Amino acid sequence: MVMTVHYFAPGRVNLIGEHIDYNGGFVLPAALSLGIRAAVRPREDGVITLRSLNAPGCFEVDLDADLEFDPRHGWANYPKGVMAYLRKDGYALQGCDIVYSGDLPVGAGLSSSAAIEVVTAYLLLHRSARAACGSEMGDSIDRIWLAKLCQRVENEYVGVGCGIMDQFAVANGKAGHAILLNCDTLAYEYVPVSLGDYRLVIINTGKRRALGESKYNERRAQCQAALRIIRQHRDVPNLCQATMEDACRWIDDPIPLKRVRHVISEHLRTMEASRLLSSGYLREFGWLLTESHQSLREDYEVSGSELDTVVELALASGACLGARMTGAGFGGCAIALVESNALAQFQDFVRSHYVQKTGLHPEFYVSEIGDGVRRVSSYSDLESY
Ligand code: GLA
Repeated sequence: MVMTVHYFAPGRVNLIGEHIDYNGGFVLPAALSLGIRAAVRPREDGVITLRSLNAPGCFEVDLDADLEFDPRHGWANYPKGVMAYLRKDGYALQGCDIVYSGDLPVGAGLSSSAAIEVVTAYLLLHRSARAACGSEMGDSIDRIWLAKLCQRVENEYVGVGCGIMDQFAVANGKAGHAILLNCDTLAYEYVPVSLGDYRLVIINTGKRRALGESKYNERRAQCQAALRIIRQHRDVPNLCQATMEDACRWIDDPIPLKRVRHVISEHLRTMEASRLLSSGYLREFGWLLTESHQSLREDYEVSGSELDTVVELALASGACLGARMTGAGFGGCAIALVESNALAQFQDFVRSHYVQKTGLHPEFYVSEIGDGVRRVSSYSDLESY
């Protein structure tokens, strides 16, 4: 009998530390219990087929052929890119049928692309190790290396200049914990997330956010340019290590100066937020979430009317300690720290006013913080494939 093996990679939510990963500072993401599942069955002909229960079509990848990016292949470019890069790194891939399915909204800023990359890389490595050793590999896959490989796929193959945060969180998540990650050194520690009488609510604005089309790369370039100017006068390893004094002295243009102000203040907020969260100061933690949103809206200018409306409504609900956009911005999701016994009223309040103001329908996820990518027991919806 041919055995089907199942895997899961979570989406991620960033608690705080936005647009910081590519500036070398601290971020505080967490893996979700929502994510992408994959069922894999071996085949003998050197072909990998890719299907998704959430999208039409079946893609056949011939492992002897070139694995070029093809815009017509849509989502399948992510797994194809992973295969191309594993092959480049010398891994021998074997034929198989892969079917994906998931409950992670696509294009909502919860890292569905990182989840599909990481689950694919993990399952292919897991399979090739099983074939080579004839036994389970346990969990000896180097998850930091895995995250870096998937970031390279996103940067070089898909062409999106993202930082390391998403792939890192998807690969290294730990249930009940956020990850305080130093994006310069990749040193990290797990920070327990004990929310007591509160829950983390993720609100999807329904405004789709496409990283490639957004101003993401422009912000990145503005930060690099600001760092170059500061470095003409002072040796700083990255923008997060510069000071506002440095920036004000040497940068004249008000726009780059605002970008730098966001980066430096957000980096400090993230370190402070992590301390507050681990000591149970939820009210103060909530304030920092809201401050982070203001900074992203005014200084970094990556929010938008839908995200601003959702955050304002969350704060006006009377049941919320703090709220902010999460992820790249320009649409996608916000997070809010909400009283557990007022969740239903909170959702009703935000939904009704949001629909009235924007005409869009928000979605709410009260997701647990889960583990990173892993092998799992079977899933019923993928059982028959
Ligand atoms: C996207 C990118 C990440 C990070 C965030 C903003 O999610 O993929 O690398 O830059 O935006 O914090």
